[in-house]
This record gives sequence, structure tokens and C-alpha cells, in this order.
Amino acid sequence: MKHQVIDIKNAKNFVGEGVTVRGWLYNKRESGKIIFLEIRDGSGTIQGIVHQPSVGDELFEKAKILTMESSVIVSGTINKHPKLDDVYELAVSDIEIIQLVTDEYPISKKEHGPEFLLDNRHLWLRSSKQRAIQVVRDSIIHAIYDFFRAEGFTKIDAPILTPNACEGTTDLFEIDYFGKPAYLTQSGQLYLEAAIFSVGKCYDFGPVFRAEKSKTRRHLNEFWMMDAEMPFCDQKMNENIQEDLLCSIVEYVLKNNKKELEILERDTAELYNLKRPFHRMKHKDAVKKMKELGLSAEYDDDFGAEAEIEFANSFDRPVFIEDYPAKVKAFYMKRAEDDADKARCADLLVPGLGEIFGGSQREDDYEILLGRIKEHNLPVEPFNWYLDLRKFGSVPHSGFGLGLERVVSWICGTSHVRETIPFPRVLNRVSP
Ligand code: 4AD
Repeated sequence: MKHQVIDIKNAKNFVGEGVTVRGWLYNKRESGKIIFLEIRDGSGTIQGIVHQPSVGDELFEKAKILTMESSVIVSGTINKHPKLDDVYELAVSDIEIIQLVTDEYPISKKEHGPEFLLDNRHLWLRSSKQRAIQVVRDSIIHAIYDFFRAEGFTKIDAPILTPNACEGTTDLFEIDYFGKPAYLTQSGQLYLEAAIFSVGKCYDFGPVFRAEKSKTRRHLNEFWMMDAEMPFCDQKMNENIQEDLLCSIVEYVLKNNKKELEILERDTAELYNLKRPFHRMKHKDAVKKMKELGLSAEYDDDFGAEAEIEFANSFDRPVFIEDYPAKVKAFYMKRAEDDADKARCADLLVPGLGEIFGGSQREDDYEILLGRIKEHNLPVEPFNWYLDLRKFGSVPHSGFGLGLERVVSWICGTSHVRETIPFPRVLNRVSP
């Protein structure tokens, strides 16, 4: 009899029925006349039970020779687990082997070092924790799209090849564009600043590139950034929308990814307790507090990564650090009205990871912006189009960007952002 092909995650809807699942052998255990096959199909895993007296010798032998990661089509009847709630099993009645793996699968149950796992990232992705991270990543992307759509933002796709440095020239990847230099984008922000005059509030989402030679647990050389930009918006409103966005991402993941967070052994209390309003603190007050805590920090500098994380750990929820020294921030940021040495900006820090969002009000005056471009030793010509935006209907505007991998890392509780992107690009690695 032909059975209906199902996704394993839907097994609960087929109790008592004959079904077929298609996937890979994830694990195998034998106990006398029973072989337990753990089958994975991308949507979930299910335990298949091959009971020799019921299935006969031929099928039992087929189950016996199955090796890790062999691809199979398995049919049988779905039963509820006799003891566990919300767990279902497959009483196997047929196995079709699509490919029998003959090599030893490189990733075993024993502990492997990070470099070995990264060398085998194409296979490591199949393991349950790595799958869970990718599923949460997908949810976060959906949550972001849902949020912006509900808030009336339009998605704008910014280019990847650009003539300008958005975030300074020290970490640009330069390429030869038909004999002229071009750069891989560091952020779509400048293009969103052009788009607000067309569609109003907007956002982008795409890969960005930083040739940073930093080897920390929160830096990648290629990562996914979402930038948002809003006309007639000051820095205060900018922070409020970031607060709403982060809360709605966390709410979405808690609703849709309980299982994955369990697999990741994430202590979810911090996520359930996420409360508005987040803390807000000026950079100069943060430095004062950091010094009191014995952390190293300077009034005229950015924070070091580890001190920033330690500091973020001293709060019970995320904190916006506002008004950084302008000289450590990008050229496009508006200066604070009460202190021209400070930028009207804020980074959002979370416990365990530090900065996950960065944003600012943008300089909207043509002459001042031109002066800043020169002060930062940036070539004016490639910025002429950007300067035009201050000539034709300039308005106060603000925006922010989030690093997707940092958000995923914080929500999943991973120790390094490299696990949050399918194929990480870091200082010493551009493969697989
Ligand atoms: O603070 P950043 O550099 O801000 C911008 O690029 C602005 N143009 C964004 C905007 O205002 N539209 O980067 C934004 C976020 C950071 O808060 C951080 O989460 C992430 O991008 N990020 C990185 N993530 C991984 N690896 C790196 N090397 C990162 N650099 C920044």
C-alpha cells in the first residue's frame, strides 16, 4: 500500500496512520531484536522502530547495515511515545535505501575542535544545534520583515558594489571594477538616505563586508545587516523604534522556536523578562560607571570589546549608550546640540555580547556634511550624489543598523557569531 509522504514535524497529525518519511539516518541504536533508527528530514527527527519479529529478517538486515547519514525513504505507522508527551515514533514497515554511505562520517559524537568543525562546516550544519541556530535565524529574519511591514516601512535593496566608504576607509574590501576601484558595501545606509525621499520610512537587508583584521567572538568579515532609515525622525524616536523591533523579534522567537531554544539549552528567562524601556546612558556617564566597576574605558574613545561586554553584563536588560565622542564615529552623524564633540548616536548593548544595533541622527546640512567628509579625509567626488540629498529637500532624519549574526548569537546564546551564519568568513577562513 502507498503511504502519504509527510514532513516529520507533522507526525502528530498522523497517529495510527501509515506514512512515509524521507531523509537521512541521524543515529542508530540496537537492542536485541529491535533497531532504533533516528531519521532526520530537515523539518525534524523521528525515532523509527524496526522490530525483527514484526518486520521479518530481510528488512531487519536492511536496517542493520544502515550507516550514519545514509539517505532513506522509510514507511510505517505513527504511534505516540508510550511515556513522553508530544513525542511520536514510527513503527517501521519498509525501508528504501537511496544511498548507503560507505565512508566513515567525519563528525561523530565525540568532541571536535572548532577548526575541525569549521573545516567541515558543510557537514556540521546538519547537527541538531547548528540546525536549530539556522531555524532561529530564519525566524528572526521573518520577525524583522513582519515588524517593518506592520510599521509601514518599504524594503529597498541597496547595492553591494559601491564607490563610497560608508563606515571609514580602514576596513574596505576593494575590487577592480573594469579598471576603476570599487568597494564591497559596508552598509546600505547611504542608499537608504536617498530612498527616504522616494518611499519614506525604509529598510534594507543584505550581506555587508568589513576587511577588519579583528579576531573576536563577535566579528565576521562578511555578515548580514539590516539598516533602517526614517525621515522627520530624531535620535530619540530612532531609539524607540529599535526598542520595539528588538522586543518584537524576541516575542516572535519565543512563540515559534521553543524547541530550538531548548536544543540550544538557552536560558530563556532573560528573553521572557525583556522589558521596555531599555536603559539609556550617555557615553560619558558610562565611562564613569565603567571606571567604578574597574573596567578600562576612556572619555574620548570607543569601548574595547571585552570591557563593553562586561559593562553590558551589569544591566538587567539592553542599554543604549548615547552620544559617543564624534571622533570615533562615522562622518555622517549629526553632532549633539549641547556638545559639538559628541555625535547624536547610540549603540544598543545587550548582556553577554555588547553592541548589536548602532544608529544615529544624520547630518542634514550641506556645508557641514561637506566639511565632515573633508575632515575624515574622504574623497568628495564619490560623495557628490550623497551631498545632493542635502540640496534637494533635506530633512532631519535618523536610522540604525543591526548585525543579524549578533542578534542571532544573543538570542541563541552562542559563544561565537561564526556559528550563526551558514558559512562564516573570518580572518583566516574563506572556505568551505
Ligand atoms: O555600527 P555599524 O558599523 O553601523 C553601520 O554600519 C551603520 N551604517 C548602520 C546604520 O546606521 N544604518 O554596524 C551596525 C551593526 C553593529 O551594531 C553590529 O551589530 C554589526 O552591525 N556589526 C558586525 N557584526 C559582525 N561582524 C562585524 N565585523 C560587525 N561590524 C558591525
